[in-house]
Amino acid sequence: MNGHGETEPLIPNDETVQRDSRTLRNRAVAWSVLTAFLIAVGVVALVDPSFVSDIGLSSGKLPRDPKLAAQRVLDIAPVIDGHIDLPIVARFVWRNNVTDIPLDGQMPMHVDIPRLREGKVGGFFWSVYVGCAKPEDEGADFLTATWRVRDTLEQIDVAKGLISKYPNDFSYAVSTSGIKSAIRDRKIASILGVEGAHQLGNSIAVLRQYYELGVRYVTLTHTCHNAFADSCGYLIPSVPRHYGLSPLGFRLVEEMNRLGMLVDLSHTSDMTATQALLHSKAPVIWSHSSARAIHDVARNVPDEVLSLVGFGEGQRDAVVMVNFNGPFVAADGEADIEAVADHIEHIAKVAGVKHVGIGSDYDGIEVTPTGLEDVSKYPALIAELYQRGWSKQDLVGLTGGNFLRVFEGAEKVAKELQAAGTLPKYDIYEKRDDLPPREL
Ligand SMILES: *[C@@H]1O[C@H](CO)[C@@H](O)[C@H](O)[C@H]1NC(C)=O
Ligand SMILES: [Zn+2]
Repeated sequence: MNGHGETEPLIPNDETVQRDSRTLRNRAVAWSVLTAFLIAVGVVALVDPSFVSDIGLSSGKLPRDPKLAAQRVLDIAPVIDGHIDLPIVARFVWRNNVTDIPLDGQMPMHVDIPRLREGKVGGFFWSVYVGCAKPEDEGADFLTATWRVRDTLEQIDVAKGLISKYPNDFSYAVSTSGIKSAIRDRKIASILGVEGAHQLGNSIAVLRQYYELGVRYVTLTHTCHNAFADSCGYLIPSVPRHYGLSPLGFRLVEEMNRLGMLVDLSHTSDMTATQALLHSKAPVIWSHSSARAIHDVARNVPDEVLSLVGFGEGQRDAVVMVNFNGPFVAADGEADIEAVADHIEHIAKVAGVKHVGIGSDYDGIEVTPTGLEDVSKYPALIAELYQRGWSKQDLVGLTGGNFLRVFEGAEKVAKELQAAGTLPKYDIYEKRDDLPPREL
């Protein structure tokens, strides 16, 4: 279809051509329109068939103006952010008093309802984060873990309280179908994520109960090692403890696959990430991580690991949701919207454009990039990528389609494992001394 932009009529109204030839030509045009439409639907279906058809994605071209184009993209595919730390703001500013927290007004950090709406957010993971213990309190075997389970329950409680306090804006979700119906209702799908297996009290039973409570991802580590896996540390790599996953960590990944709990590899060491990626039967996520080749810090994902992501032989489907934290994005004072776009483009280049997403870390970071100061700014990032030549279907994948495909993949694996009668994991952390030893 040459020369038929948004403003030109698709079928020219030329009275001088003969009726027959015009009919023929109109038919040809109609067929090519139909073909183009079917191709567009086919291409877009790779992103996520039901998502896109459910929300009625058209095959129309985007306007030339980047700002308008970004609005159009986000109208059909709003942002699903992999990691927002709003619940810790509730905890440390309001002692979790849901009644008191003015989410519909102006909040102190990066997130509130007016700015979520301005940023065209269709969903996000509410991080029910609890910090690592001090190493001296923790002990060498991570045995003083229990208060973190209490605090995680408190964070789940405050997140759910805030979600239900604003029923016109938030819609609690535990599945891809829940997320999609929230978006169809023009609400913000609200999903829970636990940010570190140190919040599990060393127990796979706790994982199962978090799933029951609605949690849909667990990050395998935060900045500390835990009984299941090694962390990457923060900017500089930590000395490994298990050299990746511990034996119990492998069982944890298997149980997450069986449940349909997403395996989140943000914060993990390169060895942990590699082992978990290869061991997981389900697609995995990085809920908030950027690219090490663009800025060399331990928290970012290296190319060796990115190259294991994909649809090919020996690869695993995954989505790397790019983090906006200044120290992860660029050198001091240099983090800006262009640098974040560079991370996105690098991941798209190495892992593939179907494997990149957005995981801002808003409310959990102190330094935001220039141009991406809070949740109202996502459209500017989409405009930047559009200016760099990103297509509509690639942008729709970035904003949420890629994540939904991965989550759907994990739901499917869980269904299959359960249908095959896969048993739950009852392994107990071997360093515990509060249970009788196993009889052999
Ligand atoms: C929680 O906030 C409400 C509204 O400001 C207030 O009435 C109530 O006393 C607070 N509760 C506590 C325990 O501080
Ligand atoms: Zn984090």
